[in-house]
Amino acid sequence: MSESPRHETRIEPGPHVLNGEPMPEPPPEKSAGPIRPARGVQLDGKVAVVTGAARGIGRAIAVEMAANGADLALIDIAGPVSPASNAEPATPEDLDETVRQVRAYGARAQAIRADIRDIQALRGAAEQVERDFGRIDIVVANAAIQRWKPLLDMDDADWRDTIEVNLNGTANTLRAFAPKMVQRKCGRIVVLSSMQGKHGTKHASSYSASKWGILGLMKSAALELGEHNITVNAIIPGLVDTKLTRYEARLAEAIGEVTGHKPDHAVPSQAWDARAPVTALKVAWLRPEDVSPTAVFLASDAAAMVTGAEYEVTAGDSAKSV
Ligand SMILES: NC(=O)c1ccc[n+]([C@@H]2O[C@H](COP(=O)([O-])OP(=O)(O)OC[C@H]3O[C@@H](n4cnc5c(N)ncnc54)[C@H](O)[C@@H]3O)[C@@H](O)[C@H]2O)c1
Repeated sequence: MSESPRHETRIEPGPHVLNGEPMPEPPPEKSAGPIRPARGVQLDGKVAVVTGAARGIGRAIAVEMAANGADLALIDIAGPVSPASNAEPATPEDLDETVRQVRAYGARAQAIRADIRDIQALRGAAEQVERDFGRIDIVVANAAIQRWKPLLDMDDADWRDTIEVNLNGTANTLRAFAPKMVQRKCGRIVVLSSMQGKHGTKHASSYSASKWGILGLMKSAALELGEHNITVNAIIPGLVDTKLTRYEARLAEAIGEVTGHKPDHAVPSQAWDARAPVTALKVAWLRPEDVSPTAVFLASDAAAMVTGAEYEVTAGDSAKSV
């Protein structure tokens, strides 16, 4: 049986003439092109690099991209990051599990253990990915740590390491991989900020500051890289249940944010019952798989004209922010 040709639609085919002149339009390489089925999720033949891919949101983005046709280079430190991180470290086995989940979709997967604080290591990774995969189409700068501690109680590392990993590490990722995209005159970069990068956070000032900084970096990079046909956008998740957030003190903070009283001990159901009623969609937190589809859209051809933008995935916290 022969396949039917893929249907495409240009909704108002031109040329459109005004005052005797045809309306200029963006060239094909600067447009999402005609409507065609699944174009917002189609990543066939593309190569994506994801940092912080061993678990959580990074793993979800990697697997979601594989499910939609991309091959993946998976970067993670897969070990301890800093005493300033509240979360337990990811492991090499976690990274192997992401490789397994990506390959289950028939995609190529390569794990690279690297620290995003080390720009030379990232530049080496960029060379390696280009050599092994032939191209780099998509970079997702996702790796980060979080510190919950009052500002005046912070050790130097609580401030410095959070900024060094989250903000400087994200900048390193762009500085190491974007040159490969500049050479090819196309690319998609997605960075991960946070709703804590849209407002202040009591007891997480270094994290909040780093996530605000990532938005400034994203917008500046979008301005600079646009002429090379590279888009740069941010995903801003609300609270997501991952190892970054799944520990008692974070649950207590979540309860305190809503009720004004931070309990000494907290169980998950308490935190759910406190937070869920105040969100629009009545869930206290999202799953990583709720965030990853937005990354696929931003990486797709359909998002050709989206750059310098913030995409909030929050179950409704967005409705209460400016
Ligand atoms: N979970 C949430 O509620 C939430 C909310 C908003 C934003 N985010 C953001 O989403 C992203 C992913 O968070 P997550 O919840 O999946 O966290 P996670 O802790 O589950 O995963 C983070 C991964 O990054 C890796 N990593 C950390 N520092 C690294 C370094 N220096 N070099 C290389 N790899 C490193 C870790 O090993 C880990 O595998 C982060 O940018 C985070 O700030 C998370």
